[in-house]
Amino acid sequence: MSWTKDFFIYLSQNNVLNSGAKKWGLKLGAQSVVAGTNLTEMIESVKELNSHGISCTIDNLGEFVSEKSEATAAKKEILSVIEAIHEHQVDAHISLKPTQLGLGIDYQFCLDTLREIVAKAQEYNIFINIDMEDYKNLQPSFDLFDELLKEYDNVGTVIQAYFHNAVKNIEKYKDQRLRLVKGAYKESEEVAYQDKKEIDNNLLKLIEYHLLSGKFTSIATHDHRIIHQVKEFVKENNISKDKFEFQMLYGFRKEMQLALAKEGYNFCTYVPYGDDWYGYFMRRLAERPQNLTLVGKQVFNKKTNTAIAVAAGAFLLGRLTKGKKKK
Ligand code: FDA
Repeated sequence: MSWTKDFFIYLSQNNVLNSGAKKWGLKLGAQSVVAGTNLTEMIESVKELNSHGISCTIDNLGEFVSEKSEATAAKKEILSVIEAIHEHQVDAHISLKPTQLGLGIDYQFCLDTLREIVAKAQEYNIFINIDMEDYKNLQPSFDLFDELLKEYDNVGTVIQAYFHNAVKNIEKYKDQRLRLVKGAYKESEEVAYQDKKEIDNNLLKLIEYHLLSGKFTSIATHDHRIIHQVKEFVKENNISKDKFEFQMLYGFRKEMQLALAKEGYNFCTYVPYGDDWYGYFMRRLAERPQNLTLVGKQVFNKKTNTAIAVAAGAFLLGRLTKGKKKK
């Protein structure tokens, strides 16, 4: 992993910058990849994407939830999004993260919270996707999913191709609607492939397996090589276009998103919104530091500069000490 990637992952976990960002409004270029800080702005973005034949999966951003009251506030916001999807009759569903709903605080509380959301969504025939986070939360998230599947059929989840256990998990969930991704978090070599080629090959293997299983597959990648291979695979295997969709993140490869929708493929854009945008934005920078040009165009204010400088100093110090320890 390069130092830039490490640095942005480190920044994404910085609590001070994270809470500061809530007060800044969208800064550092984040507005190009975050669809607004509130529900009204987000719904306008969804309508715009729908007008191009693109459906949306909406993510109310939230990080560092350590109190039940924060998880309850997140639940209320997600319930408002469900109401807004219904009221505005937009083509959209929900993506949510278990830790935002209290998984790190109390498993049963999180399950009850999720039940409330999934039940409300089912009333309006709205699908809920459980996003997958880091390895620590992987099995607990699958456990939540297993519980929800006993009662609801409007719920699906994600398989991350970098995990060694991805194949085992996709076999278990072959009859469920799944989103397939490479994986976004920093994981150890004990549990995850580190080599890009191995991850890409595993993702393709998972995609082909799930497409052949016949259940709906969301192929979530910006990688044109994988998209090309999927197009060839579905043609060769006569897999109909209503059995899968491509997904990309809001603001990424916009021309390709529009082109795929125009070619007649189902396309779904992941639409993140909310004032807790900072961690999400830093993880996107970690994946693709070329997006740094977005940051460069912004004029920083004094406070932002200072906070980032302090974090950068701490990061460099941490690396130096780590290097010394290794020797
Ligand atoms: P990757 O970043 O590996 O890029 C491959 C190649 O594609 C690059 O070398 C470049 O040529 C090209 N490329 C990529 N981005 C480009 C750009 N912006 N412009 C031009 N060329 C570009 N992760 C997770 O752990 N849990 C989850 O629940 C989700 N959910 C999720 C939903 C959706 C809709 C998406 C798109 C992604 C996720 N992810 C995720 C993130 C995912 O795991 C992964 O980290 C990122 O998508 C980055 O990997 P890619 O497959 O997009 O290509």
